[in-house]
Amino acid sequence: MDRKFKRTLVTCALPYANGPVHIGHLAGVYVPADIYVRYLRMRGEDVLYVCGSDEHGVPITIKARQQGCTPQDIVDQYHRIIKDSFSGLGINFDIYGRTSSDVHDRNASGFFRKLYDEGKFVTRESEQYYDPEAKTFLADRYIVGTCPKCGAEGAYGDQCEKCGSTLSPEELINPKSKLSGAEPVKKKTTHWYLPLDQYEKWLSEWILDGHKEWRSNVYGQCKSWIDGGLQPRAVSRDLDWGVPVPVEGAEGKVLYVWFDAPIGYISNTQELLPQSWEKWWKSEDTKLVHFIGKDNIVFHCIVFPSMLKAYGDGYILPDNVPANEFLNLEGDKISTSKNWAVWAHEYIKDFPGKEDVIRYVLTANAPETKDNDFSWKDFQARNNSELVAIFGNFVNRAVVLTHKYFDGKVPACGELQDIDREALGEIPALRESLEKNIEGYHFREALKDAMSIARVGNKYISDTEPWKVAKTDMERTGTILNVCLQICADLAIAFEPFTPFAAERLRNMLGVSIFAGYDHRAGEQETVNTYKAGEGMAIHTVSASCEDAQCGVGTDESILTWSRLGDSDLLPAGHQLNQAELLFAKIEDEAINAQLSRLDAIRAEREAAAKAEAAKTVTPQKEECTFEDFQKMDIRTATVLEAERVPKTDKLLKLSIDTGIDKRTIVSGIAEFYSPEDMVGKQICILANLAPRKIRGIESRGMILMARQNDGKMRFITPAEVLSNGAEIG
Ligand code: 2FM
Ligand code: ZN
Repeated sequence: MDRKFKRTLVTCALPYANGPVHIGHLAGVYVPADIYVRYLRMRGEDVLYVCGSDEHGVPITIKARQQGCTPQDIVDQYHRIIKDSFSGLGINFDIYGRTSSDVHDRNASGFFRKLYDEGKFVTRESEQYYDPEAKTFLADRYIVGTCPKCGAEGAYGDQCEKCGSTLSPEELINPKSKLSGAEPVKKKTTHWYLPLDQYEKWLSEWILDGHKEWRSNVYGQCKSWIDGGLQPRAVSRDLDWGVPVPVEGAEGKVLYVWFDAPIGYISNTQELLPQSWEKWWKSEDTKLVHFIGKDNIVFHCIVFPSMLKAYGDGYILPDNVPANEFLNLEGDKISTSKNWAVWAHEYIKDFPGKEDVIRYVLTANAPETKDNDFSWKDFQARNNSELVAIFGNFVNRAVVLTHKYFDGKVPACGELQDIDREALGEIPALRESLEKNIEGYHFREALKDAMSIARVGNKYISDTEPWKVAKTDMERTGTILNVCLQICADLAIAFEPFTPFAAERLRNMLGVSIFAGYDHRAGEQETVNTYKAGEGMAIHTVSASCEDAQCGVGTDESILTWSRLGDSDLLPAGHQLNQAELLFAKIEDEAINAQLSRLDAIRAEREAAAKAEAAKTVTPQKEECTFEDFQKMDIRTATVLEAERVPKTDKLLKLSIDTGIDKRTIVSGIAEFYSPEDMVGKQICILANLAPRKIRGIESRGMILMARQNDGKMRFITPAEVLSNGAEIG
């Protein structure tokens, strides 16, 4: 552990309270953070674990409008769902606050005011879109129109969801306000900006020179922002939902959500620890670590640190910002709006008792260095062939055989053979690697190390075959099972950060407790010293301060501690085990197919909607042409005299037409849409001077003008009233 620091403050990105959390959020932020925190706590470190809902921002107001309720109703609903999802998966923050709280309102407001009073902002007047009917400024998301890139209707002023292009409202064709449908107009407005350009040099020294150890995706993004030259960033918005800008003359303006949200970390700490919060935020003894997804990097590495630097007053900066890449689902990008996700609260309902499985799979597949994919088949395979077949199977055999041959009492360890020493000898190196990996934020690798301990055990019990040895040598059988049970106890320690529910079930079987560390959920009153006992969780409140971590622990031999991982005497001979229970259960095809069917239905719905949308979509205008270009084309009316199919083709009709100039033949690819009888006698329009060409041996002179509808159907163009043939069109 990093002895430079006395305590660790871990923050997790505050999820927006406008939807539930999904596996992408869990894999990217919350599961790795939880592993890290659990691990540090087991090591006796003093950790504060802070999160909460991010309850401001435009999407929340849009959702409220769509649902005909208030933004507060929306955030109340999702705050509860998200909070319950986290605790359902064993992710227990010391505080899960909310940015709509009074504490946060005061704190964020005060933060802005200090910077304002000290002249740390610049003000700028700019022209922004305004809805003259609704009498309000419009955030980019509130403006919709036709995408200039792909022609899709309903593109937002900041992005087209159809083609993914980043847009500005100015680029939209036919922009309309989402509120009233009125055409937005430009209007002058004033906002406050944080002049990031003034912090560029400092950021460069702090990150580019000082934090070369950060993950390459994080460091790389910071470098490209800094090298690209930083610009002042607006920290206020014209909106009626958020923390009001605490300045006279700022009516109708609120703090930009990305200004107030990171301050939420501080507010939530203040709410939990009103007297002692500063030691977490303003002491060089505190190590601050932000767990986030890659879309949050600039805010946590560039903007928030610049805000803290501008504020001064001893605020610390993050020691690390382990940001993950994105997780896809069955090969497609996870999308809240498209319902393409596995939602945490639904998972908990659909897979009761399998909270650990999702934690395990998301860690084994964590998108640490590149985007990764979650598939239900992989989920099933990892459960059945890793958790069940290796970890669960090993533990089950060890505990069941101990009951069978030794009445559930840990047998004495006789003389060790090479095979025993080799198995036990692998554990310390795996522990060392596991520690290094967790401390270096390599959680995938750390999980592999933990799993390797299970593999060692499983291989050992298979190779030594105690069920066979028992027929001839009970003493040797006892030694083998003693070794197996020590490894089981190692697993009960090593898996606590990754699969805490299973680790607890395992400790129940083994009849042992674990030192799981201190937490601050009780707030200021006491430091809580948590022992997880065999029978559920026992919490003992102690008066020891956190700096006295581990005090009293280690003297009691029935309590496992992290520092004992790898010892060969974790369970003394004669120690009574409890009955074996299933550590992990197989997941059957039925459960997986139900999930896949749900996704198939969503995919089919999405494809149908895309088709319907395409049918509505007008192809974008072609490149400009000159009048001279147009004049070159000789377009005229004509009448079809005869029509027949071109033999051996599906699409071609041979038409004999009267052009008013002459009678000629045109071969046209319209047989899909018209029969010869449909065409005879019809007046049509033709491009008369198109160079002749041979089609299927027939010389075609000219082209029939057709309109292609968005659904692909073609229709010929006919004058509104019958005209003389050869009338020029132009
Ligand atoms: O991207 C998001 O989900 C944001 N709500 C994260 C905010 S993190 C912090 F700054 F509050
Ligand atoms: Zn588009």
